Amino acid sequence: MTHDKIAVVDFGGQYAHLIATKVRRLHVLAEIRQPDDPIEAFAGYKGIILSGSPSLSSFGEDSGYTKAIYDLDLPILGFCFGHQEIAKHYGGQVAHGGREWGYADLHLTREHPLFAGLSMIEPVWMSHYDSVTAVGPDFEELGYSTLGGRTEVQHRYAAIGSDALRRYGFQFHPEVDDTLHGAEMIGNFVLGICGCRPSWTIEQFLAEEMDKVRAQVGDQSVFLLASGGVDSTVAAVLLGQALGPERLRLLHIDNGMMRKDESRAVIALLQSVGLGERLEFVDASQDFLDALAGLTEPEAKRRAIGDTFVAVFEREARRLGISQDLLAQGTIYPDTIETGGTRRSDTIKTHHNRVPVIEAMIAAGRVVEPLAELYKVEVRELGERLGLPHAAVWRHPFPGPGLGVRLLCWAGEADRSGFDAIEPALADLAAAEGLELLALPIRSVGVKSDLRAYEHPVMISGQAGWDDLLRVAGTVYKSVPGINRCIWNLAPDAPGTARPVTAHMTRERLDLLREADAQVMAGLTRHGIDGEIWQCPTVLVPLELDGRGRELIILRPINSARGMTATPYRLPDALLDELRSSLLALPGVSGLALDLTTKPPGTIEWE
Ligand code: XMP
Repeated sequence: MTHDKIAVVDFGGQYAHLIATKVRRLHVLAEIRQPDDPIEAFAGYKGIILSGSPSLSSFGEDSGYTKAIYDLDLPILGFCFGHQEIAKHYGGQVAHGGREWGYADLHLTREHPLFAGLSMIEPVWMSHYDSVTAVGPDFEELGYSTLGGRTEVQHRYAAIGSDALRRYGFQFHPEVDDTLHGAEMIGNFVLGICGCRPSWTIEQFLAEEMDKVRAQVGDQSVFLLASGGVDSTVAAVLLGQALGPERLRLLHIDNGMMRKDESRAVIALLQSVGLGERLEFVDASQDFLDALAGLTEPEAKRRAIGDTFVAVFEREARRLGISQDLLAQGTIYPDTIETGGTRRSDTIKTHHNRVPVIEAMIAAGRVVEPLAELYKVEVRELGERLGLPHAAVWRHPFPGPGLGVRLLCWAGEADRSGFDAIEPALADLAAAEGLELLALPIRSVGVKSDLRAYEHPVMISGQAGWDDLLRVAGTVYKSVPGINRCIWNLAPDAPGTARPVTAHMTRERLDLLREADAQVMAGLTRHGIDGEIWQCPTVLVPLELDGRGRELIILRPINSARGMTATPYRLPDALLDELRSSLLALPGVSGLALDLTTKPPGTIEWE
């Protein structure tokens, strides 16, 4: 069956994906289009939504994108940057300045189908520098904004529209949950103004995808790498059901950087869904350890892990004689598209699913990707529909290189570069706040102004409330150059010294990290908060604090919606007490700390 579809033009950041997810929740298929896609790419849609942009401005210069969309006889709705572009295109004006960020009240000037079922005053979320200051002759102001509770107008033209042209714009962001009735506004556009039929459901998707897979595969067999992650597991079950288990072969590679007992759990899970007999297991941990021997630089480690993965895959593929099989992958929608606006990927890291050997197979039509149209949340829904256990479907994301990016390695001297400026700045802040601030002579990966930053962390010691800790951490990494993270010391005493220790990727260190990570994960489950947290990496840093041990353990509990941005999650005090006792007692551990850094400037992982 053909479904009514909406095109979402991606002007950058994460707005477009959020919008598409909200449209899909209405059971209408939304697809991402790039701003410079040719006009032919917009055929077959019932409406277009233009996203906001974190970096583009509608002020002054002419923004380059396929303006021929305005000649299409389709309803178009723009948010923020998209709203300003629509206003400008039809003779309105945009002014620079007057940053508005946070909640505002949208006051409707009249009832309108876009706001059907809503109040004349609606709380909305604003985040913009530029604003529409005048609209063209065919347009009207549908709403203006005030700051919550106030009466004076903050911004005119917060919502605009032309019913004759079927063009509309919102200065605010209806796709974020902070706009209380944003989903209803998007629904009024998609289901009402565009007239889309809500036919796209997970059941419908599953039935259609099963048919597609059978058609693509014909009487061939399929081979799939099962990492134990949600995507590859759901893909395996879908393929098993579509083709019959006997036409599917699975390979699980233990790269030595899995969690404690992880490979055993993956095997048990696949057995529980009737795919155990189709599974090959390879312990390749030594290959990975050999490749990582002596490496300390994060990018070099990542490259070594990626290259070894490809080498092991090719070797095992030869051994298993899969060259005649099709290769199946659990690739999901965001992995298949570039980020819009600048065509620069937000995920700085290369994806396993798109390495050259696999690109060549895709080009030859030998790759099956049954989840390539779905977002993560939809893959999870599908997994539950296919009968996978709740815990397997809702597990936290775990990076492909696994604990490899959570076990920092170091060789040589302490890195005190920049400390001449850092230490006096920290001393001033420490005195003002009544806390101790210690710059650590190692580095971790972060991101600043969309670029990779490899900078020093600062350890905060002393007693303060959670909000104060976050405030001080923010002040430190925003105001002290060369610092991209702050961690809070959980051990009883403030360390006087921190000395990096030469340490590489070894089985012993991985086992220590595995044990610490297992204790943290068990603690989250015990306190019933694993479902609230996006992820909680445990990181091992080779730092000797006051000569006590050789490894500092860092906890990194975070809130996030899609992993692109993140804020620290506050763990319960009782759990921190438990972890303080158990983790500080592990052999060779010199300290324990909690990462207080938002993303940006810290990434979620430390490397
Ligand atoms: P960062 O550290 O960039 O992580 O803030 C964002 C999200 O991506 C995950 N991550 C990876 N996932 N392969 C993956 O499959 C990788 O190489 C990789 N690196 C980071 C990370 O766990 C977080 O969820």
